[in-house]
Amino acid sequence: MEKLIIKGPTPLRGDIRVSGAKNAALPIMASALLASGTHKITGTPHLRDISTMIELLKHIGAAVEWNDEINITVDKLNVDEAPYDLVKTMRASVLVLGPLVGHLKHAKVSLPGGCAIGARPIDQHLKALEAMGAKIQLNEGYVEVRAKELHGANFTFDIVTVTGTENIMMAAVLADGKTILNNVAKEPEVVDLANHLRDMGADITGAGTDKITINGVAKLKPHPHHIIPDRIEAATLLMAAGITGGQLTISNFPSSMLDTAIDKLRSTGMEITIDGDIVHVERNGTLKSVDMTTAPHPGFATDLQAQFMALMSMASGTSIITETIFENRFMHVPELIRMGANINVDGGISVIKGVKSLKGAPVMATDLRASASLVIAALAAEGTTEIQRIYHLDRGYEKIEDKLNLVGADIVRTENKVG
Ligand code: EPU
Repeated sequence: MEKLIIKGPTPLRGDIRVSGAKNAALPIMASALLASGTHKITGTPHLRDISTMIELLKHIGAAVEWNDEINITVDKLNVDEAPYDLVKTMRASVLVLGPLVGHLKHAKVSLPGGCAIGARPIDQHLKALEAMGAKIQLNEGYVEVRAKELHGANFTFDIVTVTGTENIMMAAVLADGKTILNNVAKEPEVVDLANHLRDMGADITGAGTDKITINGVAKLKPHPHHIIPDRIEAATLLMAAGITGGQLTISNFPSSMLDTAIDKLRSTGMEITIDGDIVHVERNGTLKSVDMTTAPHPGFATDLQAQFMALMSMASGTSIITETIFENRFMHVPELIRMGANINVDGGISVIKGVKSLKGAPVMATDLRASASLVIAALAAEGTTEIQRIYHLDRGYEKIEDKLNLVGADIVRTENKVG
């Protein structure tokens, strides 16, 4: 198992580029199952979750090549199944459910079960498929979905779900008739998928609003797609500059997808200048504490909550951070406390009293975004931080230490036989 050794503090200075968005790439790769032919996808990041999705698509019967671009060739599909071994390493494997049901009218997907950040059921995905005429059976840890005919439906999600919205859009594009989905997720990754499905021949309107309307079509065909930039990586880089008192010029920056986060970071005293897809960020004065509550897009993303907490742990004053999306997403707190942060948690609310400095310590990554918060805390902390279990980080941040070392960080990746 590998670990990162980070020596700090190192103010980050220089130019850095944002990679493609993992959470846009995964559903777009899964959507290839909807149409025969070769699907060319560019701009995908080199990440473990992308390799896992490739493995899953190959298991189902697609041929996949991954060099600079990903080519997914779909002819005859072998199986309709996402097995436990893959789903347990990546919950987003559930994204093949919608396209398989859409294309084959049946699918068998291992139930994802709990994960480090919460229970994360898929009841909303299943309820929507039922409304479209599918029969659902739970069997030995697998959910089996079968539909003689999949028809359009008027469905309202009880809860806003990103992969739920994506799955049902993908099921509905080939269904008979009109599907109206209410209370859908408005995340930019949902919009990227809708744009791609439209390019493939689907009839979809409303992505990016609360209501998506889909008129089923008989057939889709492959269309090349370039993945949008990763807004979570982009904002993580802003916070890395902010916590270290550095200056970064960040390219391929999706600022229009980050209005709320940029406003919030500006109110901490960070200076952020936007020029098209280039963003310059610097922090000269002290960091100010501000409160933050996570919310579905366009609110402050839960995927940035841990990094924002690291930032607030070094701000002057007290900040209250409320997590509303996942019930167990404060696992970075004990690790930040090991580094000298002053944080108290009560349910979904954290109270962070800013400290003047953090100190390097051995810490453990517990999930993807928690790992990112430990990395940015370590860049600002005095001394050496060793982060164990960085396989979480490798699921979502492309070449993180190479990128950060080029702008002044001191990060070494080594083997850790004990960890
Ligand atoms: N939920 C239900 N029932 C459902 C679906 C969701 O109760 O059927 C609940 C979840 O338990 C959670 C909330 O609804 O409390 C929102 O979950 P959502 O379904 O939106 O999450 P997701 O689609 O599984 C995606 C991202 C996550 C990101 C969340 C929220 C992908 C592949 N994953 O997950 O990304 O945190 O939306 O924005 O798009 C990450 O990248 O680190 C990550 C975890």
